[in-house]
Amino acid sequence: MLSSGIPVATLLDDPASVERKLSFAASEDLIRACELGLFYLKTPDDLDLESARQFGRELIASDSPHRQVPHYGELEGFIALENNQQTKLALRRERWNQHYPEHIAAFGRQLDAIGIAIILEVFRQSGILEALWDRASGGYASGGGDAFLNFVHYDTRTPDWGLRPHTDYGFVTILDASAPGLQIEVGGEFEDVPVLASHFIINFGEALNFITAHSNRAVSAVTHRVVSQQSIDPVRHSIVYFANPNLDGMLWQFDAAGREQGSSKVQDLFAQLENSLTETR
Ligand SMILES: [Fe+2]
Repeated sequence: MLSSGIPVATLLDDPASVERKLSFAASEDLIRACELGLFYLKTPDDLDLESARQFGRELIASDSPHRQVPHYGELEGFIALENNQQTKLALRRERWNQHYPEHIAAFGRQLDAIGIAIILEVFRQSGILEALWDRASGGYASGGGDAFLNFVHYDTRTPDWGLRPHTDYGFVTILDASAPGLQIEVGGEFEDVPVLASHFIINFGEALNFITAHSNRAVSAVTHRVVSQQSIDPVRHSIVYFANPNLDGMLWQFDAAGREQGSSKVQDLFAQLENSLTETR
């Protein structure tokens, strides 16, 4: 059963740093997470997840003022999709202060710190030299890059797929889901990823796969989908954070000896992925 095979990590205070360190019970667990492209992360005690969930649930109300957040391009704003009964409020980091309440913007910044902790641990295991982490990640590892904090609802009363199979484009996705429905592809079969109380589901994306491809620890971008399921509450709520590279930046591939093995404009990499089963954030 896959649920027993999904590694679980925690964030530990690191005496050597102001940042917390991603920690697995055993080193094989991180290796398994990199192979699988997915793991559970214990939600930190200082994260006010419940009020963020409450904010998400309140977006369902037709008179919610946040339903008036305008569109910025195709990816940002309050977006109601026709095809799969998904509605969402999606915003990049630069607009959190403008459109999210202060406590939600602060929540997003806490997820930034979690995203960085995850990437740094992958880099440590990859053998990529620390001096190259910032360049390899297009600045994300040092607090730059592109981050989205999205509040998503799937209305499961339709028989459609909630979300077709895809990989995520970015480095890391942090997911808080209120109900089951997420499945990942393992060995050609889709398997359920159960909701684990007090844990995020973390998955790795194409950009992290790209930058680790020639390192000692290549990370898989996991193919996943969301299936429509009936539940007591027919609306499946989720909070999704995407850690991405800047669209106008570069990504670099280094090996453990510090040699450059390749590079790509982020836009070129994403354009290559565009025709495969991926989503753009
Ligand atoms: Fe996804």
